[in-house]
Amino acid sequence: MITPTDASKPSSARIYDYMLGGEEWFGADEAAAKILMADDTWVRDACRANRGFLLRAAREVATLGVTQFLEIGCGLPTRPNVHETVRSVQPAARVAYVDNDPTVVTHNQANVDEPGAVVTIEADLNQPHDILNNPEIRGLLDFTRPIALILVGVWHFLPGPDTRKIMDVLCDALAPGSYVVLTHACSDAMTEAKKAAGQAVYRQTSNPAHPRTTAEISLLIDGLELLSPGLVPVAKWNSIDNDPYPQDAPAVIGAVGMISQY
Ligand SMILES: C[S@@+](CC[C@H](N)C(=O)[O-])C[C@H]1O[C@@H](n2cnc3c(N)ncnc32)[C@H](O)[C@@H]1O
Repeated sequence: MITPTDASKPSSARIYDYMLGGEEWFGADEAAAKILMADDTWVRDACRANRGFLLRAAREVATLGVTQFLEIGCGLPTRPNVHETVRSVQPAARVAYVDNDPTVVTHNQANVDEPGAVVTIEADLNQPHDILNNPEIRGLLDFTRPIALILVGVWHFLPGPDTRKIMDVLCDALAPGSYVVLTHACSDAMTEAKKAAGQAVYRQTSNPAHPRTTAEISLLIDGLELLSPGLVPVAKWNSIDNDPYPQDAPAVIGAVGMISQY
């Protein structure tokens, strides 16, 4: 059982865990999730399809030879976790997890971290230099070799106009042959009413949500060499037979891109 910093307020990490069928949530999170699912299950489908994309994309990048992973906005442990998934391809993979929710960090440190192989630190994506200069991350990952930077389900919690600058700081620190794995809540297919209802719920958390259009999200990954099929609804990204995740979830789009020259 997790120890919340404030169980009376919903958290984006615990709402997501509820949507995925996890057990690390409280009454406030369940109430928020039920509001999000009052009319239909589009938010739950989006969360589940997002998780399916993350696992397929992480495995794909590991298959391409990457053995180092940096996931920012990692969320609560969810079996299988990223380190378990990539180890099925790269048994010696090292994974650094980052989240700005202290509850997530405490829980991961107690249940997931492994000396020399998996580390979780508390930091904010808004402060990318703090992440890049963190001694535990520097001790685990070799930035002269390719790293997969995983930014899945997190960019839409950053409000400002600085998202591209933050991406540039992170990508500039990565060696050629590194990858960016990214998803983002996409407003193209949302009615104004759905968008407003979702935002009202996430405003109660410490991570208000800011869905963006496909055009805005494309700017974030401009300059990367995208793997096929490019930036698409996550459920459509290299889906597999008998995938247990939803096949129709247009509210989140995602891509995997390689850094050749950034
Ligand atoms: C929806 S969960 C995604 C978890 C996982 N990446 C996945 O896709 O399955 C989003 C996570 O991002 C974290 N988060 C939100 N804003 C953040 C920020 N500015 N810096 C770091 N983490 C953040 C939340 O605490 C939450 O755990």
